[in-house]
Amino acid sequence: MDRIRITGGRPLHGEIPISGAKNATLPLMIASLLTDKTLVLDNVPHLADVVQLQRILNNHGVDVMLSGKRSGDADNKGQTVKISAEKIVDTTAPYELVSKMRASFWVIAPLVARMGEARVSLPGGCAIGTRPVDLLIMALERLGAKIDIEGGYAIARAPRGLRGGEIVFPKVTVGGTHVAVMAAALAQGTTVIENAACEPEITDVADCLVKMGARISGAGTRQIVIEGVSSLSGARHSVLPDRIETGTYAMAVAMTGGDVLLQGARAELLQSALDVLVQVGATVTATNEGVRVARNGAGIAPVDVTTEPFPGFPTDLQAQLMALMTRARGTSHITETIFENRFMHVQELARLGARISLDGQTATIEGVERLKGAPVMATDLRASVSLVIAALAAEGETVVNRVYHLDRGFERLEEKLGQCGAAIERISG
Ligand code: EPZ
Repeated sequence: MDRIRITGGRPLHGEIPISGAKNATLPLMIASLLTDKTLVLDNVPHLADVVQLQRILNNHGVDVMLSGKRSGDADNKGQTVKISAEKIVDTTAPYELVSKMRASFWVIAPLVARMGEARVSLPGGCAIGTRPVDLLIMALERLGAKIDIEGGYAIARAPRGLRGGEIVFPKVTVGGTHVAVMAAALAQGTTVIENAACEPEITDVADCLVKMGARISGAGTRQIVIEGVSSLSGARHSVLPDRIETGTYAMAVAMTGGDVLLQGARAELLQSALDVLVQVGATVTATNEGVRVARNGAGIAPVDVTTEPFPGFPTDLQAQLMALMTRARGTSHITETIFENRFMHVQELARLGARISLDGQTATIEGVERLKGAPVMATDLRASVSLVIAALAAEGETVVNRVYHLDRGFERLEEKLGQCGAAIERISG
């Protein structure tokens, strides 16, 4: 298993190209199942989760062609992926594939909408929580699907197709909103989704579906209205920049000090996180090239933050902010409201000398003068990158184990940080 070795204490200077968003790429690839024509996606990041989803789509008989950068493409241009689900030969998504990447459960929506049936393994829990799919199933039932749970599989049937309906989510769910929108796109009649997720990735997928001929209004707001159509065509769509990658590198610069241009980043996708960084003492400047983040001289100020659905502070940046707060000049508090077990990075940060105490869903972080390098263990995607951020400012050497977690969501991380002066290398093996 690969590991990453970091020697801390160096400021970051230079430019980091921001990749296409993982959490838009995955639903966009899944949306290809809605049409028998070709969907072309540009700016797709090179990530393990993308490769895993490609396997799942192949299993349904979908052709997925990856083509690398065209010559002359800028460094931050991702790969182009051509996907054609002309014939779906199998409507089952098996446990051994779905269990490796939870979002693949979302294939249930286009499969039942287009084929009238789907047999998809329940994704099971994961490190950060039980992560049930009851609301995704509720949404499909509201559109007329009959769903049984048998042997760890969700079996969905709609032999006469789906029909429009009203879906009211009792809590904001990104996956539930993606599933509802994709299924409603091919349902007969009108669907109204209340309390929809407003994450930018929801809007990006809706924009692509509209290019494919879907009739969607209100994406990005709490109420989305979809007029079902009988079929969708192909389209070409470029994946929006990854706001979580942007926020992660912004926090890394705030941690080490320095001055970095996050190329291609769009500030409006993570404004709440950037506002927190300004409170911390970083300088944040939106330019037409991206977002520039600097922290020179002034110390790291403590902040109190609670994670919320978009446009609030994102749960996917909670671990990264906590790493930054370990060296704040004072005590900060971070409350996690989205997932019930998203503090596994706390124990590992403590190994580097951080002083963090937990009381239910609130972490209290007492800033310390210095962190000391040590071997640490990555546990989930975003927790692993919080260890990298802490290691960048720790004295001496840190080795982060189990970096396959990192590779799921961060493209070329050690290259991007190394180019800005970090002493970081991957140890294969
Ligand atoms: C998406 O997960 C993201 N994944 C997550 O990013 C992100 O943390 C999460 O949204 C919240 O923003 C992708 O987009 C691929 P939810 P999702 O449904 O859709 C509960 C990362 O690091 N819930 O919005 O699974 C759920 O348990 C990943 O990139 C139900 O109770 O999250 C959670 O407490 C991690 N029943 C809350 O809702 C359901 O049927 C929000 O979950 C569905 C969800």
